[in-house]
Amino acid sequence: MDKILDVISEEMKRAFQAAGYEAELGKVTISNRPDLCEYQCNGAMAGAKRYKKAPLAIAQDVEAELKISPVFEEVSTVPPGFLNLKVSPLFLKDYLAQMSREPKFGLNMPEKAKKIMIDYGGPNVAKPLHVGHLRSAVIGESVKRIARYAGHEVTGDIHLGDWGLQMGLIITELQERNPGLVYFDERFTGEYPQEAPFTISELEEIYPTASGKSKEDESYKEKAMDATFKLQNGVRGYRALWNHIINVSVTDLKKNYKRLNVDFDLWKGESDVHDLIPGMVEEMKAGGYAYISEGALVVDVKEETDTKEIPPCMILKSDGASLYNTTDLATIKERMENIGPDEIIYVVDKRQELYFEQIFRCARKTGLVRPETELKFLGFGTMNGKDGKPFKTREGGVMRLENLLEEINEVMYGKIVQNRSVPEKEAREIARVVALSAVKYGDLSNQASKDYIFDIDRFTSSEGDTGPYILYTLVRIKSILSKYKEAGGRLEETSLRPACSGPEKDLMLQLAGFLGMIENAYGESAPHKVCAYIYDIANAFNRFYHETKILAEEDEGRKKGWIALLLLAKDILETCIDLLGFSAPEKM
Ligand code: ARG
Repeated sequence: MDKILDVISEEMKRAFQAAGYEAELGKVTISNRPDLCEYQCNGAMAGAKRYKKAPLAIAQDVEAELKISPVFEEVSTVPPGFLNLKVSPLFLKDYLAQMSREPKFGLNMPEKAKKIMIDYGGPNVAKPLHVGHLRSAVIGESVKRIARYAGHEVTGDIHLGDWGLQMGLIITELQERNPGLVYFDERFTGEYPQEAPFTISELEEIYPTASGKSKEDESYKEKAMDATFKLQNGVRGYRALWNHIINVSVTDLKKNYKRLNVDFDLWKGESDVHDLIPGMVEEMKAGGYAYISEGALVVDVKEETDTKEIPPCMILKSDGASLYNTTDLATIKERMENIGPDEIIYVVDKRQELYFEQIFRCARKTGLVRPETELKFLGFGTMNGKDGKPFKTREGGVMRLENLLEEINEVMYGKIVQNRSVPEKEAREIARVVALSAVKYGDLSNQASKDYIFDIDRFTSSEGDTGPYILYTLVRIKSILSKYKEAGGRLEETSLRPACSGPEKDLMLQLAGFLGMIENAYGESAPHKVCAYIYDIANAFNRFYHETKILAEEDEGRKKGWIALLLLAKDILETCIDLLGFSAPEKM
């Protein structure tokens, strides 16, 4: 079905036309003076020049055409020529009733679903997840869910960092510590052990140690580069060790992402495209795109219209080694061959923007993608601490994601048991669910590209623009609905009624904006639009709730109308929080 703004605009266009003006002038927007009206149309102003007529006169002509309208309850012309609009409660009720009958609240599905790939998460094997990875995971997951809800065919790929020097470093350090390991015995031809010779915590200690050593010790670094080379060229023992590293690390990553309610369709990594690189490089050379510059193989990507310098995209280093760029380009090739997406969205730290600009241009120029393939960079800002600097632990180190979640769970738990007795297990479970909403909403309610301040006190507060506030509201609605059922009420037997108070109508108006909101949130890959929408709904609901005795209402018809309204509000809120990647507890 059409979004409410379109339905209202249709009526307005009809009136412009009937009054002898161009229909297109009848475009309606949400009022920017909610104290005066619900919607507005500024078409009379736009038409003044064309019709050489005062806007006020045009508006009056249109108003006259709307004297009897099923859509509007009130149309008033305001100097210099605004049309201020209030919709009829009956029209609004009918619109919502249709929404509640249709799947996905009447959302129109695309004629042809787009194939979209989302590259997000991007953790590095053997390195603990940190807060930067949190943002990519949280935003990517939501963008994925929104696109899927909008009817597209979406594949999420984690794109593991599993192939570079960090692998050689780990292997080198393992060899230093335990040179007798069978993996380093070149004459060994048997089966390698099933069990990894290290645990995840050892692995997480080994990497930083190795990385530190390589910065101080040139020969150590050479060893690591040699190990990387051997690994990439398929030396058996190195591959076997690498497999262990991947398995141990991926098991741990899966556990962490599960906690975040984030999941990926593909667990591919940089290593998966290794074998595609030589062919890709040959094609780039043969096509005349790649050439040698100062020993390295590069592709020029600057364009005449550039206002800033865009350096060439490096494909191979002078020693022939591949880089981060090379794997990203080869991954595009692989994705185009295997899945053939219409669009690829990268959810990555915005500091990589220029890098992706080079990659996208290079992919286009060298024909890795079709001319119509969309490549989008969704860059996110930094998560800062209260001091406005990148978020750190109290000791000043990099905050591990696990610890961050632990901390916020504790704070939430404290709030849940405060002044109340809730069984321990239940309180822990509620704390976990609500804390996740605090983290995710705290992140997603900001426009992704902006930096934001991670403020545990604010994020976990049940008041204000927060996840817990949304969940409190939802739980309140659910509790009214269950009380209604307990008292013998049947939800199937309720139906919406035209609003009879301001706050009730306001809630209805907010709910009616759902389709428009989804259109924008999908079109702009903007989860923050979902957040802003549910925050408005929660506010509208709470105003309505505070002035309406819903369950004590004696007029049965009225009560049923309210219950139906609550049911719709609950369904919409639940759908929206699912799009954001969190859920609500039964009680709080
Ligand atoms: N592993 C990278 C990092 O930790 C992020 C990967 C982003 N995605 C990509 N296709 N380059 O910085």
